[in-house]
Amino acid sequence: MSETKIDDKKILVTAALPYANGHIHIGHLVEYIQTDIWVRFQKLSGRRCLFICADDTHGTAIMIRARQEGRSEQELIAQMQAAHEKDFAGFDIEFDHYSSTNSQENYQLCTEIWSKLRSEGLIREDDVEQLYDPQVGTFLADRFVKGTCPECKSPGEYGDNCSKCSATYSPTDLIDPVSTLSGATPVKKTAKHLFIQIEQLRGFLTQWTQSGKHLQTEIANYLKGHFLGHPLRDWDVSRPEPYFGFAIPDSPGNYWYVWFDAPIGYIASTWQWCKRHNEQLSDWWQSEHTEIHHFIGKDITYFHTLFWPGVLKAVGYSLPSFVHIHGFLTVDKEKMAKTRGTMIRASKYLELLDPSYLRYYYASKLGPKPEDIDLNFQEFIAKVDSDLVGKVVNLASRTARFVEGTGLSIEYPHDGGLFAAGVVAGDRIAEAYEQGDYARAMRLIMELADAANSFVENTAPWTLKKDPTLQVRLQEVCTIVLNLFRQLCVYLAPVLPRLSQQCGKLLQREIVAWSDSKTPLVGTQVSKFEHLMQRVDPKKVQQMVDESKEVPKSDAPSVPVAQTPVQAVTSPAVTEAIEPLVAEPLAPTCTIEDFAKVDLRVARVIKAEEVPEAKKLVKLTVSLGGDVTRTVFAGIKAAYTLEQLEGRLVVIVANLQPRQMKFGLSEGMVTAAGAGGTEVFLLGVDTGAKPGHRVH
Ligand code: MSP
Ligand code: ZN
Repeated sequence: MSETKIDDKKILVTAALPYANGHIHIGHLVEYIQTDIWVRFQKLSGRRCLFICADDTHGTAIMIRARQEGRSEQELIAQMQAAHEKDFAGFDIEFDHYSSTNSQENYQLCTEIWSKLRSEGLIREDDVEQLYDPQVGTFLADRFVKGTCPECKSPGEYGDNCSKCSATYSPTDLIDPVSTLSGATPVKKTAKHLFIQIEQLRGFLTQWTQSGKHLQTEIANYLKGHFLGHPLRDWDVSRPEPYFGFAIPDSPGNYWYVWFDAPIGYIASTWQWCKRHNEQLSDWWQSEHTEIHHFIGKDITYFHTLFWPGVLKAVGYSLPSFVHIHGFLTVDKEKMAKTRGTMIRASKYLELLDPSYLRYYYASKLGPKPEDIDLNFQEFIAKVDSDLVGKVVNLASRTARFVEGTGLSIEYPHDGGLFAAGVVAGDRIAEAYEQGDYARAMRLIMELADAANSFVENTAPWTLKKDPTLQVRLQEVCTIVLNLFRQLCVYLAPVLPRLSQQCGKLLQREIVAWSDSKTPLVGTQVSKFEHLMQRVDPKKVQQMVDESKEVPKSDAPSVPVAQTPVQAVTSPAVTEAIEPLVAEPLAPTCTIEDFAKVDLRVARVIKAEEVPEAKKLVKLTVSLGGDVTRTVFAGIKAAYTLEQLEGRLVVIVANLQPRQMKFGLSEGMVTAAGAGGTEVFLLGVDTGAKPGHRVH
């Protein structure tokens, strides 16, 4: 793309509306950062682009929580919205408008859309039998019922599916169901529900989803495989009272289900923006000149790719040009978990770390496919330190001070084609942003940064500085390096708006457009150099994880066991080095029974021998007392000599299933800590322990 081709096309971008019943965490941030980067890129490229969002406020969960906290739903959602907006601002996520689904505009739009759906003959009524909590006086959504799985009889399973055998069922099938709200036994109760007959739109939805234009291929295939081959089930869009939401005007006692009014909230929030800016809503939601882009996570695919386009089509609003779907965040390949301290709130992160780190890290991981992305703190630290601090910021910190007095050269000096190559690369970087392939954009940018750093190494401005006859050359070199730095800052501006601002301040020319990357600055003044970005402090990372840890709830069976390792790590780790723990995070909780399965024994090494065929191994014969011995092969050759081993006590896993290796049978395992190679530390025991003692 080039900046000369600024079309009059408008772009409306949305990110999913976060639920008001929880705080923003680093998982949500994948999406809001991803969307913010795309919007910033569009704006920087000169496009007219709006970024619209809101809190998703309705539903049973909010109602229950407000009751438990003894306040009104309005008070609760207002407080959550303020917290969400603060978190987003802290991460430089900049909406054009942020609203709430509990707004007058949303109610009005829901009403209009509803009557249109009625007149199109898309609504039908039916009786639905649901579990009802007689104590609280409310119907129970699936996750508010627990009971015994009807298939495998595992107790304590939720009302929709079994975590043990994966059976899916309806909450009324559970054996001995209980309401999680009150502990009461729910009763079955029938009520009238309203349904949208989405099957009537299957022809349209098949064509729209399979056109290859609006969805990622993986998503289109998923929909084809899972939904579009069969009749689409009618979509239950009402809930009987009590419910926190909008009452359905033509159906007394019934409310729209939260998922009916939530996506309409996209339009309602835009409408509020329009009112404030004197614009027509139809120019954004009913115009060929506006592209609509939704960014969402894969868990809400159905709503945004079938239900929502169906409704939009039926009522005459624009369809999304593209639904960009991302995967889920995992931390060290595991789901985020409070017990492990990986369910990190946005606000906790902001207390301790620079938001730019996470923006860059996510950018470097996000591709165009709906794949999960993994956060690994060691990689996080390494990437930020080496790319941002080591390669980008470094360019300015090694040169800016030398030209504080003189400013940049009057003419752009010969740089061997570096700046021009950066201009050429700019088109490919823009294309990668446009396609949501930020990982590729970041790689291309870092390639340019590498070239710029080689130039710094080769020209060594710090030595030029020492020679009074080379001051003109010094100014030239700094002019080149600072311009390369600025070019990188333009390319990184969608990801790192703060850095681009700092660069603007340093070089006394604000970065306002993508095209600022195309012409070098000359003859301008350079401000006094101020620190741009710090290295990541690993202690802060550790502290963030520690302070995000929550001990499992009291009904968890393993509480006494689980608490011990959590506490043991928490207190000293702030002062100890963090790397080992980062390299190998704590395993999921195991029960005392799990642990007891592993029979750890003290053993004495009675013979240590070389294994000629294996460079890393030694063969140990260990005694467990009497004439009970075991042969074990251990990968500790690089760390210990045979002499050091013979005679010492070790701890072995004595009941490990024997394993036939090329050079003999291994009948156990020697325990050791460390990363491997020369970094291996055998576990010993204090004096007094005897071979054969069990380790408990
Ligand atoms: N309220 C609905 C969306 C309504 S849109 C009309 C909702 N809210 S949510 O708060 O649960 O999630 C908001 C967005 O964050 C969703 O797109 C969801 O996929 C995303 N994420 C929530 N947890 C996530 C991860 N762990 N990883 C990545 N994205 C995640 O869904
Ligand atoms: Zn089961």
